[in-house]
Amino acid sequence: MEPLAAEYTSSTQSDIRIFYSVVQVNLAHAIMLAEQKIIPKQDAAAILRTLVELHETGITGLELRPELEDIHMAVEEFVFKATGEEVGGKLHTAKSRNDQVATAIRLTLRKNLLDVEVAFLELVDAMIALAEKNTDTIMPGYTHLQVAEPTTFAHYLSAYCYAFLRDVGRLEQAYESVNSCPMGACAFAGTSFPINRARVAHLLGFRHVDENTMDAVGSRDFALQTMAALAIAMTNMSRLAEELSLWSSAEFDMIEIPDEFASPSSIMPQKKNPVVAEVARAKTGRVLGNLVGTLTVMKALPQAYNLDLQELTPLLWSSVDDARDSANVMARLVRALKPKREVMRERAGKSFAVATELADALVRKAGLAFRDAHAVVGRMVARAGKEGRAAGELNIDDLRAASKEIIGKDVGMTLEELKEALDLDKCVTARALPGGPAPKTVREQLKSLKRKAKNHSKLVQVRRRAITKVEVNLLKEAKRRGQ
Ligand code: ARG
Repeated sequence: MEPLAAEYTSSTQSDIRIFYSVVQVNLAHAIMLAEQKIIPKQDAAAILRTLVELHETGITGLELRPELEDIHMAVEEFVFKATGEEVGGKLHTAKSRNDQVATAIRLTLRKNLLDVEVAFLELVDAMIALAEKNTDTIMPGYTHLQVAEPTTFAHYLSAYCYAFLRDVGRLEQAYESVNSCPMGACAFAGTSFPINRARVAHLLGFRHVDENTMDAVGSRDFALQTMAALAIAMTNMSRLAEELSLWSSAEFDMIEIPDEFASPSSIMPQKKNPVVAEVARAKTGRVLGNLVGTLTVMKALPQAYNLDLQELTPLLWSSVDDARDSANVMARLVRALKPKREVMRERAGKSFAVATELADALVRKAGLAFRDAHAVVGRMVARAGKEGRAAGELNIDDLRAASKEIIGKDVGMTLEELKEALDLDKCVTARALPGGPAPKTVREQLKSLKRKAKNHSKLVQVRRRAITKVEVNLLKEAKRRGQ
């Protein structure tokens, strides 16, 4: 090829990521070829010895020249050099780079997915630990970014934990889609050699064999599914990142981001910028972009293999890395986070966050219809707000005046009942419905979250152990046959 064209179309650099997987696919394929007597035992032995040697040397054993196009050709060249073309040339019998690359991507992605899951589980663990210390920490909850109702910091953290565990669940589902073996599809239409597809899949620890060979080489929806799951996970995390930077500002002042996770300004001596949260927010943009980029590569792409597919793979790795790194660093930040409990409480108290509870109390104690109670409290709050008074300063006269205006009569509520309705702690504790912010209920949520997280961790462990076992066995079998 013309040198510039060769460089332009080569994937050697981004292929470094799948090096070990490519070697593994070759090992499994060579073992199967020998077992099926498609190539002589002693040729397979020489090939396997060379591949094991390459596995031990690592990527530095390869010469990744762009004119080789990709890592698949570089591995083959390595084998030729050691065994001669007569023997090494048999390795590519009944396989193509098309099924090989799809298989290698899946092998690498399988492990990478587990790393991302672990990072998100670590984040959940950090959030739960922080929540456990803050089940009594009153804070204002927001809707429309306006103070809405009082809640607790733990209730807020718990909300994110549920989202992140659903994200882990989506990644587990993506893992299932990834865990299927394309090998044997060759270019797309398979081969007339008597290969054993199930055997290769088994040697590589895949749960399934792709059932249609055209689909096996031409599809990347396992990557799309992964990237979509990562995009959702990052979108969830970006909301937390946004709030952490917002709340650490002087305007909100509800949390302190520790120095280790902030950076100063080069000119403004007073500054402490929440850069970790900002970068996490921005990484989300990249992960979303990668998803759209990948969807766009796949859109209207003819079956089966086209080199377009090669351009999609680096976007997949970029999303995986960004998500894993973001979750890992955010977990550390959350562990070091300091909520400003007094400020949180003060903000919840200042902004009539208890108004809904007061309206509810009018319904319960004074027998008002909720709509009337809503209007009465609305009038009370509007007036007190104009006069610069906070919720704690509302009194029976306010109630009397508002109810006379709105419903034309006085309402029967004692000062004690009024004060109770305005009490932040009581207001939160009273919301002990399932899922609510009452300390007791949130403690139950945290227990449930821990149980769920533990189950996800167990699945990760089971999958990791299975992969390690398969990798060890594959090398053992290759060494045995290479002797
Ligand atoms: N480098 C390619 C990729 O990453 C491997 C398959 C190339 N196949 C081909 N027919 N040129 O997707």
